[in-house]
Amino acid sequence: MPKLLMDRFGRMHDYLRISVTDRCNLRCVYCMPEEGMEFEPDEKLLTFEEITEVVRVLAGLGVRKLRLTGGEPLVRKNLEQLIGMLSQIPGIEDIALTTNGIYFASRAEKLRAAGLTRVNISLDSLKADRFSLITRGGDIHRVLASIEEAYRVGITPIKLNVVLMKGINDDEIEDFLQMTIDRPIQVRFIEYMPIGHQDEDWKSRYLSLTTVLDRCKAKGWNASASDAVYGNGPSQNFRIDGALGSFGLIHPISDHFCETCNRLRITADGNVKPCLYWSDEFNVRKYIGDDSAMEDLFFRALDIKPQNHEMAQALMNEEQSHTPTLRRMSQIGG
Ligand code: GTP
Ligand code: 5AD
Ligand code: SF4
Repeated sequence: MPKLLMDRFGRMHDYLRISVTDRCNLRCVYCMPEEGMEFEPDEKLLTFEEITEVVRVLAGLGVRKLRLTGGEPLVRKNLEQLIGMLSQIPGIEDIALTTNGIYFASRAEKLRAAGLTRVNISLDSLKADRFSLITRGGDIHRVLASIEEAYRVGITPIKLNVVLMKGINDDEIEDFLQMTIDRPIQVRFIEYMPIGHQDEDWKSRYLSLTTVLDRCKAKGWNASASDAVYGNGPSQNFRIDGALGSFGLIHPISDHFCETCNRLRITADGNVKPCLYWSDEFNVRKYIGDDSAMEDLFFRALDIKPQNHEMAQALMNEEQSHTPTLRRMSQIGG
């Protein structure tokens, strides 16, 4: 009987999010400070060979689905090569990418040929000037071109990630919903998460996703729960009657989904994180070459995985000045 990654609460882990870099070509307001951050030096990043070794061991323990994240994963050189290496590992069935879409269009064909199966693209506004403000300089036309290119080369279904922020883009909820009526696309609304630091901005901008369902109803659109969307993540999915696409709600704060968590994370500097929110980390690098010691490390990480988080509660009550993890989202990969 093979060993599987089951934790104390009976949750099976078959999904690994791999951050390949903490660097990014953008500075989204909810993710990175304007001045950027101190980035990991190249020698601290796991090499492609090391990542492949880690995934090979995890695949032996039941991991089937991978997602490459960043920072922005496409700023890591030759990502296609890594995807090619990962796609050769027996047991791996799905290799997805979460990207800001700026560099995707020109590489879509090569990424698909290397073995990329799916792509999730961030797009927080459909207005060019607002998009540029949120991302601090991003060009929306490049993202729109990436979406079209993903369709053209057949990396579908495409998902768009929209982090909702009160007073910044919540007036576009209806436009995004209209997009799901007109196109076979999935738009996922994401609650703004306070990760890594107490953030005054977060307190004033956070918006519960019940707003999306309220706005949908107010438009006279009937949305029903849909299980037709392929995904490994926490999104709760809906389809408006007659729509070509669908929409999803990712609401870690108003209604967390910890009881179904199926994921482990690995940071670009090789730390296994059993939970996005907590500080516990286990560096994997020194175990490369010793499969059984590495397996033990994963089981130790799972052993301390918490049942759930109270993300935001402590910050709201001002009991804490930061979340248990001090890492920012760009250093974890979402
Ligand atoms: P699929 O459903 O497989 O397409 O992937 P996904 O939704 O897990 O991936 P993606 O990287 O697009 O994640 C979308 C958003 O969900 C990001 O903002 C992530 O930070 C957030 N997210 C993903 N997994 C978790 C999780 O375990 N906990 C929390 N709190 N947020 C998560
Ligand atoms: N809250 C919610 N989502 C976030 N992301 C980055 N930072 C945050 C945050 N503070 C999202 C991005 C992207 C994914 C990797 O994580 O929009 O879709
Ligand atoms: Fe970069 Fe993604 Fe963070 Fe935006 S959300 S700054 S695109 S890592």
